Amino acid sequence: MSTIYFDNAATSWPKPDVVQVAIGHYFGLAGGNPGRSGHRMSIAASQVVEDARDALADLFNVADPAQIVFAKNATEALNLAIYGWLQPGDHAITTSLEHNSVMRPLRHLESKGLELTVINCAADGTLDVEAVRQAFKSNTKLLVTTHGSNVVGTVMPIKQLAEIAHEHDVPYLIDAAQTAGVLPIDVEALGIDILTFTGHKGLYGLTGTGGLYIREGLTLKPLMRGGTGSDSAYEYQPTFLPDIYESGTPNVAGLTGLAAGVNFLLETGIEQVAAHERRLMTRFLDGTRNIRGVTVYGPDDVGIRCGVVSFNIDGLVPSEVALLLDREYSIMCRPGLHCAPRAHHSLGTFPTGTVRFSFGYFNTLAEIDTAVNALRELITVAEQQKVSS
Ligand SMILES: Cc1ncc(COP(=O)(O)O)c(C=O)c1O
Repeated sequence: MSTIYFDNAATSWPKPDVVQVAIGHYFGLAGGNPGRSGHRMSIAASQVVEDARDALADLFNVADPAQIVFAKNATEALNLAIYGWLQPGDHAITTSLEHNSVMRPLRHLESKGLELTVINCAADGTLDVEAVRQAFKSNTKLLVTTHGSNVVGTVMPIKQLAEIAHEHDVPYLIDAAQTAGVLPIDVEALGIDILTFTGHKGLYGLTGTGGLYIREGLTLKPLMRGGTGSDSAYEYQPTFLPDIYESGTPNVAGLTGLAAGVNFLLETGIEQVAAHERRLMTRFLDGTRNIRGVTVYGPDDVGIRCGVVSFNIDGLVPSEVALLLDREYSIMCRPGLHCAPRAHHSLGTFPTGTVRFSFGYFNTLAEIDTAVNALRELITVAEQQKVSS
C-alpha cells in the first residue's frame, strides 16, 4: 500500500528534489555564517539568504527584497507584527477562523488593555464583509485575518478587506501560512500592508523558516535586538530593513531549502499549482457529496477554497477516523481542532473537531479516489459499530 500524504497544511511532503539538492550544496560550499566573517563561505552563505529574499520578493511582487524579513516560522512573524504594532488602548479586528498564532497574541494583548473584536464566521467559514466594516472604531489600529483557513479552507476576500481597512487608514495584516505558494499573492495589487508566511508548507522549504513582508513606511517594534553582522561598532539596533528585525544567526540551511522551494514554484508557475489543487478539491467534493454519513464543511465553490478540507463521519470521532485511515489505508491526515478552536465553534464541531485533509502539488487524482473509497468503507465500519453496541 503506498503512502498517501494529506497533511500538507501541517507541513508539506514530499519536498521537490531541488530542495534536497540545494541543502547538500549548502553544506558542501556555503556553510559559513552569513554577513559575519567575510571569507568565501561566509559570502556564499549571505548569498543564500539574499537568494531566498529575492525569490520571495518575486513570488509576492515586492519591489524591494529588503521588505521581506525572515523569522523562524509564521508564528514568530505574526508575533512581530502584532506585538510590534499594537499598544494597550488600541482596538483590533479579527475573525473566528484564526489560528492560535494570531488569536493567542491578541488575547494576551487584550489582557493588557487591547480592545478586540472577533467577527464570527458563518458555518461554512465565510466572512460577512459588512460586519467587518461596521466593526471599525476611532481607535482601530489593525485588521488581521487569515488568507486561507487551516480548518475549513475558506479563502477570505482580502482585496475587499484591504479596501475597507484603508478607508479607515488602518493597516491590514494577512496570515498567509496556508496560501503562500498555493494561491497567487501580489502585495501591490491586493493592497497588503503586512503578509506573514511560513517556509515549510506551500513554499516547500524547511521547518524553522518563515517571515513577513512589511509595506514601506510601516515601522514595527522589533521583537528582539542583537547582532546583525551590520553596524558592529554601534551599540544600538540598526534602524534599516531587514536588519532591524533580524537579530542573531539565521537558519541558513533552512533558507537554502526555502529559496529552492520558492524557485521551484516560480518555475512551475503558481497558477499551475493553484489549478492542480483546485482539481484535487473538486474531485474530493464531487466524490463525497452523495456519501450518506459524511459531512464535508466549507463552501462548495472551489473558487473560494484553498487545498484544505474538513469532514466528519457519523458515528466515529475524528481521532478514530484518522487512526483508521493511517493504519488501514496508509492515508496521513490530521484530526481535532487544528490550533483554531474558535473556528470549530463557527462550524459547530467544537470540541471534538473534524478530520482534515490538506492537499499539495504532489498529490494525485488517483489518491483522492482511494481516499473517497476509504471513507465509504469507514461508513460501513461505523454502521457495524453501531449495530454491535
Ligand atoms: C493559518 C495558520 N497560521 C499560522 C500557522 C503557524 O505556522 P507555523 O507553525 O509554521 O508558525 C499555521 C500553522 O499551521 C496556520 O495554519
